[in-house]
Amino acid sequence: MMEYIIRPLKKKDIQAVADLEAACFVKPWPLNQIAYEFKGNPCAKVFVAVAPSGEILGYLDFMITFNSATIDRICVSSDYREQGIASRLLDKMVEVCKAQKEAVEFITLEVRASNEKAIKLYQKCGWQKVVVKPKYYDDGEDAIYMIRSIL
Ligand SMILES: CC(C)(COP(=O)(O)OP(=O)(O)OC[C@H]1O[C@@H](n2cnc3c(N)ncnc32)[C@H](O)[C@@H]1OP(=O)(O)O)[C@@H](O)C(=O)NCCC(=O)NCCS
Repeated sequence: MMEYIIRPLKKKDIQAVADLEAACFVKPWPLNQIAYEFKGNPCAKVFVAVAPSGEILGYLDFMITFNSATIDRICVSSDYREQGIASRLLDKMVEVCKAQKEAVEFITLEVRASNEKAIKLYQKCGWQKVVVKPKYYDDGEDAIYMIRSIL
């Protein structure tokens, strides 16, 4: 079993997270977007899964606004999938939401309709499908809008 910790993103991780984005997504966020999430976006919270070697195995970017949170990005390096890393990142997010002064009541997300693996993961972790957002993505793919209550 892979050993790793979950901790907030540090400045030194930004390049590695951009590399992970490039490996995991068709339309990856560029380096300056990750840097903005780190420094410029007051609502964004970013957590990374880090191996003892310092390697970034996965990351989660979410945003809290008033009583709700939304997942912007989650990915795990293909070499380390199916070991529960994404589930632990999601657990961390729920923990952070529950620790807010102003109660966060639910967490939403959009996921590509074809991304069965992610949809299954979210359902396992307590999210439910709410509605289809037709042609949500630039390439015309539908999004499934999902929600999880954390009260
Ligand atoms: C979707 C994604 C984040 C999942 O990451 P992951 O770390 O593999 O997810 P987890 O390991 O927590 O869970 C995935 C599966 O592994 C299983 N799993 C968890 N721990 C396990 C273990 N110790 N041994 C074997 N399987 C395990 C989970 O039960 C789940 O299986 P299921 O689909 O049958 O329920 C990853 O595939 C990814 O980065 N994809 C590309 C980016 C992407 O699509 N992001 C989502 C955009 S909305």
